[in-house]
Amino acid sequence: MKKIKILFAIIVLAVFLVNCTNKSDEYIDPRGTDYAGPESCIQCHQVQYESATHSAHFKATSPANKENILGHFTNGHNTFVYDKNTKLVIEERNDSLYQVIYKNGKEVEAYAFDVIFGIKHAQTSGYWKNHYVYELPISYYKSIDNWATSPTYSATTADFTRKINKECFACHSSNISSRFITTKSTENYTFMGMEVEDFLSKSTLLYGIDCERCHGPAKKHVQAHLKFPDIKKAQYIVAFSHLNRQQRIDACALCHSGNNKSRLKSRYQYKPGESLMDYFTENPRSRDTLNMDVHGNQLGLLSQSKCFQKSVTMDCMTCHNPHQDKPQNHITYSKICMSCHLDAKHSPTTQKTISTTLSADNCVECHMPKQDSRAIRFQESNSSKIISYSLRTHKIGTYTAVKK
Ligand code: HEC
Ligand code: HEC
Ligand code: HEC
Ligand code: HEC
Ligand code: HEC
Ligand code: HEC
Ligand code: HEC
Repeated sequence: MKKIKILFAIIVLAVFLVNCTNKSDEYIDPRGTDYAGPESCIQCHQVQYESATHSAHFKATSPANKENILGHFTNGHNTFVYDKNTKLVIEERNDSLYQVIYKNGKEVEAYAFDVIFGIKHAQTSGYWKNHYVYELPISYYKSIDNWATSPTYSATTADFTRKINKECFACHSSNISSRFITTKSTENYTFMGMEVEDFLSKSTLLYGIDCERCHGPAKKHVQAHLKFPDIKKAQYIVAFSHLNRQQRIDACALCHSGNNKSRLKSRYQYKPGESLMDYFTENPRSRDTLNMDVHGNQLGLLSQSKCFQKSVTMDCMTCHNPHQDKPQNHITYSKICMSCHLDAKHSPTTQKTISTTLSADNCVECHMPKQDSRAIRFQESNSSKIISYSLRTHKIGTYTAVKK
């Protein structure tokens, strides 16, 4: 009898211990208990998981380590000269990376790379200090394969005081929580009549744009399918295929329609299927300005083109599948153009240009040419030249001057 009691006690203890370890292993998502986290999707969506985790969206922000940073750290490629006495050197020290200021050869201050923003064309970084992230003055640009001033930063003085605010994170990450506090500092702004500042909470940062940022909270979906593996029809998840055109557009326009609108709610709260009209005080594509910047507002530009206005189906997914393995090239994009423009007729002059300088399957080069951003410009070390950041315009149309 005693033996049985001991055995029973051991079993109870064992079960308790197993439960405990399970508990501590359990994934806790900072967004709340409705979220399951991207790792939980692998077991059933291996293909989508692979594609998404290699995408620019997943890397829209990332922890600063050598693997994620694009720029160079080797001598001769890591120095920015501000003036004859001052230079900034990008250095690796014990697995961490720094932007270090030297005056007359002596180190003055060193700032760590903590958070990286961007992957496709450019990368800027920030360092954490007292619940805020501040932008580092030097960024990396793929077009020149080099470091240069962060957008609109001075090429003669290093500024380490500019905050990367929550808005940046709201388009580039899956979560960061902030706390409003009343403050008397000079960097505050007004919220409902109070002077406030928002503290960012480092531990709640979820880098990159993950599955549930685009698909909405999926904990219930995961639990349902784990419990009933025979159910083949998706449960408790928004199906993009069931959304109407405006809803599909809104799911992308949340972050791809510029940032000069007043917000009613945080972008983090948005879930697919909702209307952006509940988030912004104006229609995200109502600004019909000729001067819309080529950076950050793909919807604004696209909605000015006849393709978008005259077609009843065109949305972002017509040309971009967020689950594509590799980025499309101009031939695949051109096939999409031709799916609607089989009978595109060009004048003899145009036809001549096409046959001599460009292949016919490069519709994009002429009709969505690269244009310079006015919002993003930068300068290289020891150079007074202002370099433009150029992206393809989404205002599909006919252009005379085509920048290559
Ligand atoms: C236990 C298996 C399982 C897990 C785990 C799982 N899903 Fe699913 N999911 C399914 C099944 C089954 C379907 C329906 C068939 C299909 O589309 O593959 C589905 C469909 C989907 C769809 C398509 C919906 C539609 O109808 O267009 C999305 C989006 C989706 N899941 C997202 C997720 C995300 C995000 C996660 C992780 C947070 C996840 N799933 C985890 C089983 C799972
Ligand atoms: C939460 C904000 C957010 C949402 C929602 C979002 N994007 Fe993005 N997207 C970004 C950011 C930020 C980048 C820049 C990533 C980088 O290069 O660092 C980006 C980059 C891209 C790129 C260029 C990179 C590439 O993969 O070639 C495309 C295309 C794109 N997004 C399309 C879409 C489409 C289509 C949707 C809707 C299904 C969408 N995005 C939804 C924020 C978002
Ligand atoms: C940038 C937004 C974005 C991200 C991030 C994203 N998806 Fe999707 N996903 C979409 C869109 C949009 C569709 C629908 C495509 C369409 O209808 O053309 C889709 C479709 C799906 C489908 C339906 C089957 C298919 O391939 O069309 C599944 C399953 C899915 N996603 C799972 C995931 C999982 C799992 C992750 C994370 C590992 C993820 N998605 C990350 C936007 C996203
Ligand atoms: C309204 C959403 C939004 C906000 C706010 C936003 N971004 Fe972006 N950002 C994007 C999108 C979308 C792209 C990619 C497409 C483009 O450049 O048009 C991008 C591109 C970038 C890139 C270049 C990435 C690449 O390789 O294409 C960097 C770096 C970047 N953003 C940093 C920031 C910083 C820092 C802030 C805050 C000061 C910020 N962003 C605020 C949406 C946003
Ligand atoms: C979903 C169908 C669709 C797709 C895809 C599409 N277009 Fe169009 N496009 C249209 C329609 C509809 C019109 C308007 C035709 C009219 O007014 O008669 C148009 C108009 C145009 C025009 C004339 C523009 C003007 O201002 O007069 C050009 C040029 C053009 N498209 C090029 C392209 C290119 C290049 C692509 C690929 C990058 C493309 N289109 C993709 C449907 C589409
Ligand atoms: C008719 C086809 C088409 C449609 C529709 C379309 N795009 Fe694009 N998009 C392109 C092409 C072509 C590129 C250039 C890709 C390249 O050069 O690698 C591009 C590039 C981008 C980029 C990266 C910027 C760059 O220059 O690398 C982003 C971000 C993007 N698209 C977002 C969107 C969003 C958001 C929508 C919906 C509002 C959308 N696109 C609709 C064809 C399209
Ligand atoms: C060398 C540059 C160039 C290339 C490449 C090119 N186009 Fe054009 N396209 C033009 C110019 C210039 C015009 C206006 C003058 C004309 O009609 O020739 C035009 C006109 C158009 C129009 C409007 C014609 C109309 O009927 O109103 C469409 C549609 C169009 N192109 C589609 C395409 C498609 C689809 C491709 C790819 C298969 C393509 N273009 C490749 C330069 C180009």
